[in-house]
Amino acid sequence: MLLIEGLTKQYKTGDRALRGVDLTVPQGQVAALIGPSGAGKSTLLRCVNRLVEPTAGKIALDGVEITGLGRRALRRARRQMGMIFQEYALVERLTVMENVLSGRLGYVGFWRSFFRRFPAPAIDEAFRLLDRVGLAEFVDKRADALSGGQRQRVGIARALIQDPAILLIDEPTASLDPKTSRQIMRLIRELCAERRLPAIINLHDVGLAISFAERIIGLRQGVIVFDGPPERLTPAVLTEIYGEEDWSALIRAASEDGEAEGAGETAAAAGQRQTGFQGSDARARLT
Ligand SMILES: Nc1ncnc2c1ncn2[C@@H]1O[C@H](COP(=O)(O)OP(=O)(O)OP(=O)(O)O)[C@@H](O)[C@H]1O
Ligand SMILES: [Mg+2]
Repeated sequence: MLLIEGLTKQYKTGDRALRGVDLTVPQGQVAALIGPSGAGKSTLLRCVNRLVEPTAGKIALDGVEITGLGRRALRRARRQMGMIFQEYALVERLTVMENVLSGRLGYVGFWRSFFRRFPAPAIDEAFRLLDRVGLAEFVDKRADALSGGQRQRVGIARALIQDPAILLIDEPTASLDPKTSRQIMRLIRELCAERRLPAIINLHDVGLAISFAERIIGLRQGVIVFDGPPERLTPAVLTEIYGEEDWSALIRAASEDGEAEGAGETAAAAGQRQTGFQGSDARARLT
């Protein structure tokens, strides 16, 4: 469980990005953080792992207070946080497998990771995860040869191999087409349910948030102005968060999509279909 109390961030430039945010995300909950550009969504996520140093407030993950940890303890705590970004942040010239294993660098000793030697259980886990995200065929392909959706699947597998206690996800679909975006969101939702992982997902796309998140948090100018299930996200609320637009049409479309979601194929199946996965001998090639 993630607990945030009175979180405030004022950048050196004077920008007040967060103004006293209180938030609790329980085990297994997928919460979408929405709000206009500059509302403070990325700042909030980055404060949780202290890539951005909070000005005031308290953050605790599974009872461990993150704010106030020294450098070593913070490094340990960060292993508990799986970050997934819009821009994937893969190492281009490394293979899919190597990129996933790089998520374990926090665990293997420096010299071991320097020579990129990983223990067998980590490699087994990487195979399992790549299979789960629909990339079993692509283990030894270089990252720079992948599509956007495939890259995001690698990013997800890399975050999961840390065995995190929470996923922090910033605009996972911003560079993806609508169909791929939905597959990625579905995959994230399934994985969180399987592992009882809580997640905070920053999303620009309100429709995706309504279809895939069980909880929506609306941020405006560093303040939470809405917190509730998608059903309570009315046109009036969206106008308060973003300003005037034709929100009722969007809500209708997204709610219908959300209802259709239950009947769809699994996200991994979609990935495998897309990648033409037939059950591969990738493991034999690697070991
Ligand atoms: N490194 C920084 N230095 C100074 N100000 C910053 C910095 N990063 C963000 N800000 C400011 O903090 C505020 C919140 O920015 P943030 O990136 O958190 O918003 P966001 O909701 O993620 O926006 P977007 O939807 O465009 O990604 C903005 O006013 C921004 O200009
Ligand atoms: Mg942002």
